[in-house]
Amino acid sequence: MPRTPFLAGNWKMYTTPEEARDLARALRDGVAGVEGVDVLVCPPFTSLAAVAEELAGTPIALGAQNMYYEDQGAFTGEVSPLMLVALGVSYVLVGHSERRQYFGERAETLNRKVKAALAHDLKPILCVGEKLEEREAGASWKEVVRGQVRAGLEGLGAEDLGPVAIAYEPIWAIGTGKTATPQAAQDAHAMIREALAETFGAATAEKTRILYGGSVKPDNVRELMAEPDIDGALVGGASLKAETFVPIIRFQE
Ligand code: PGA
Repeated sequence: MPRTPFLAGNWKMYTTPEEARDLARALRDGVAGVEGVDVLVCPPFTSLAAVAEELAGTPIALGAQNMYYEDQGAFTGEVSPLMLVALGVSYVLVGHSERRQYFGERAETLNRKVKAALAHDLKPILCVGEKLEEREAGASWKEVVRGQVRAGLEGLGAEDLGPVAIAYEPIWAIGTGKTATPQAAQDAHAMIREALAETFGAATAEKTRILYGGSVKPDNVRELMAEPDIDGALVGGASLKAETFVPIIRFQE
């Protein structure tokens, strides 16, 4: 079965609830009638409720950018999977490089988050990607990325992987305007799929969607999506405006 293209917007720490509502409305109108793609937006926590309202009854899914792995408790400042589900959230980003870099998220924590998401029927998007220094160090960047995939999914079986997607985001390409060339992104995606096949078997690896992220724009999405192992895009900056995110979602037209 071919993998359905998956276009996801990560709004990061942008938008007040009112701004998020306007953006959600513009996206809803802009993608009306689009078929054959899955669309997701990940607003900040404080805008989830407003966006959930605007998107109710539309095919655009709602995701969170992070969560904690416990259901409840004395964890000041954290948000639990139960709370997200109650708001109509169905996806959650896990281990975005900004979480790893600025908030010290470690592999073991991320693995717990993936498992907690699955336990609550939230679909995790595990984000992986190498730093510029690692890329420049040559071959070892591949081991870094493979290690992130393995650690994030540790303890899961092939039967758990259905709801899981991977986002490959080379850190040097995030918010920098430097997209990986389609060929370089394809090579990384093929390597990730191979790593999935080693652990979960070829059939599961073939079904798992691998998104590319890092300066995806309306003018480069088509060539990226043409690569056989690039199944979608995780879009930051360009997902904050309907004028740029809608053409990304409509890349097939
Ligand atoms: P960008 O961000 O599209 O602004 O490069 C991508 C991401 O960090 O998810």
